[in-house]
Amino acid sequence: MIKIAPSLLAADFSKLGEQIIHLEQAEADMLHLDVMDGHFVPNLSFGAPLIKALRPHTHLPFDVHLMVNQPEKMIEWFAASGADYITVHAEAVEDVSTVIDLIHSFNIKAGIALKPHTEADVLSRVIDKLDLILVMTVEPGFGGQKFMENQLAKISKIRNMINDCNIILSVDGGINAQTALLAKSAGADMLVAGTYVFQSSDWSQAVASLR
Ligand code: DX5
Ligand code: ZN
Repeated sequence: MIKIAPSLLAADFSKLGEQIIHLEQAEADMLHLDVMDGHFVPNLSFGAPLIKALRPHTHLPFDVHLMVNQPEKMIEWFAASGADYITVHAEAVEDVSTVIDLIHSFNIKAGIALKPHTEADVLSRVIDKLDLILVMTVEPGFGGQKFMENQLAKISKIRNMINDCNIILSVDGGINAQTALLAKSAGADMLVAGTYVFQSSDWSQAVASLR
């Protein structure tokens, strides 16, 4: 079954503790945590101390999406904050293989994210050691943008590259009940959704409608 990972970027930051309990009750599968440094993307969000503060409030796995330059320098912080998956951008690292090994050295699952203009080929050399691939269907940096349908071919291509490897193919950006159908039919097995879930008056229904 397809996994749903609400993105806390669209949450009410004054009520994060209670909102993540509510998301667990709404049967979300993971929580997606968007970390932005104001350099790799033109926006700032939050860092490891906030993630660490949330960790005791839920059993849901934490899917940490690092939109930062030189993520290698920060992996240790996010490992210590209670991340289950740490995803870094292919565009932000010198060598994707080295950073995957670094994440694994902390016993944490490793993901690589691709901006819309980055080709799937950057994954081919490391596909057999990845745990998650995150295809961005918006330019990273902000919630509430429109889903880029021109990314669907890349999602299908990666689905074929994955074959029977045990990798989660996650799609992030502009997901709603309509675009979820497109992403799923292209081969996604996890959907990240911020605005759609948090703007809905019934989060259980919103999560169910994406599935
Ligand atoms: C964008 C983030 C996304 C974003 C998704 O840089 O990586 O996770 O929060 O938000 P929506 O669902 O509103 O597009
Ligand atoms: Zn994200």
